Amino acid sequence: RQGWITGRTLRPGEGIVGHVVATGQPYLANDVANDPLFLPRVDGESGFTVHALLCVPLTVRDRVIGAIELVNKLNGAFTDADLDLLQTMAGSVAVAVENAKLYTELADFAHEVERSQAQLVQAEKMAAIGRLAASLAHEINNPLQAIHNSLHLAMLESLPEAKRHRYLAMAREEVDRLIEIIQRMLDFYRPSGGGVVQTDVNQVLQNVLAIAGKRIQHGHVRIHTRLAGDLPLIPAVPDQLAQVFLNIVINAVEAMPEGGDLRVGTLLTEDGEWILAAFRDSGPGMTPEQIANVFEPFYTTKPSGTGLGLAISYGIVERHGGTIEVSSQPRQGATFIVRLPVHPAPAKMLRGSNGAD
Ligand SMILES: Nc1ncnc2c1ncn2[C@@H]1O[C@H](COP(=O)(O)OP(=O)(O)OP(=O)(O)O)[C@@H](O)[C@H]1O
Ligand SMILES: [Mg+2]
Repeated sequence: RQGWITGRTLRPGEGIVGHVVATGQPYLANDVANDPLFLPRVDGESGFTVHALLCVPLTVRDRVIGAIELVNKLNGAFTDADLDLLQTMAGSVAVAVENAKLYTELADFAHEVERSQAQLVQAEKMAAIGRLAASLAHEINNPLQAIHNSLHLAMLESLPEAKRHRYLAMAREEVDRLIEIIQRMLDFYRPSGGGVVQTDVNQVLQNVLAIAGKRIQHGHVRIHTRLAGDLPLIPAVPDQLAQVFLNIVINAVEAMPEGGDLRVGTLLTEDGEWILAAFRDSGPGMTPEQIANVFEPFYTTKPSGTGLGLAISYGIVERHGGTIEVSSQPRQGATFIVRLPVHPAPAKMLRGSNGAD
């Protein structure tokens, strides 16, 4: 197209534009034919004859990032007033160009951060799955070995019937244990229960204490409740919350085989953003090493525990946008605090309701 040149590169100092960029000074030439800086070959390329020319730099914080050039005023020559006007315009243009550039850089940066964060999350997930697979293999291997041995012994021909029975019963016990492990594993990835509803946390807690009533009674554990009267309903999956509370309560009962006290309380934080449910027992408490591991799948100190109770609870609370914390010192009892947001982020709850990720 006549009058258009694109993709041409000028070095700083080359031609009038190059001169303006190199010096940072505006340039006004009303007779370019006799101007030593003018490059006549540009006319040859554009097919356009330049007579008068006005060029100003685009400057951002003392740095020249470009130039604007006007050629051939319709009537007569460019004036100092034209120069002033163009310089004022160039000021705004320079800021706009710089902002656009910064914005692009920022957007690129944000994108980069997002990408590396996603990679981190993925890496952490892979590591978690790796740990899980390793402990699962170990966990399943033990009962399988026991079943193998029991069956082997049960099949010995000369064996008295009573012993055969005992070996078969042992095998059966181990099979039950395997089934339980697998069932809880499934819960781990596909939490039970329906969808998200407006939930009364106190109500869920009271249901759990009722459900666990027999266990609590047999364990000689005294329950002391102090439930806040002003809790708002929060979006949650009640069955899943109940599962969390039940795991914590049963753990406390199991931690106090001689009986003891379990204090259960709820409160609304002062800013009204969080509901806290706290469980403090008078059991043996935990060492720092135990505390570091309680939420790991399969970590258990009990002969018949699966070690999944708190790992499952952790996942559930996380999907509710909350946190679960433990604090304890040996011989001082253990405290578990579940923090639930009153206004959880919708995306998180969505993931919670279908269990998939
Ligand atoms: N209240 C508590 N006091 C002392 N230790 C605790 C308490 N709660 C949990 N723990 C420790 O954390 C471990 C993990 O608990 P978690 O509920 O995940 O598994 P578990 O109770 O061992 O097995 P499961 O829940 O499958 O029966 C327990 O084995 C115990 O060592
Ligand atoms: Mg448990």
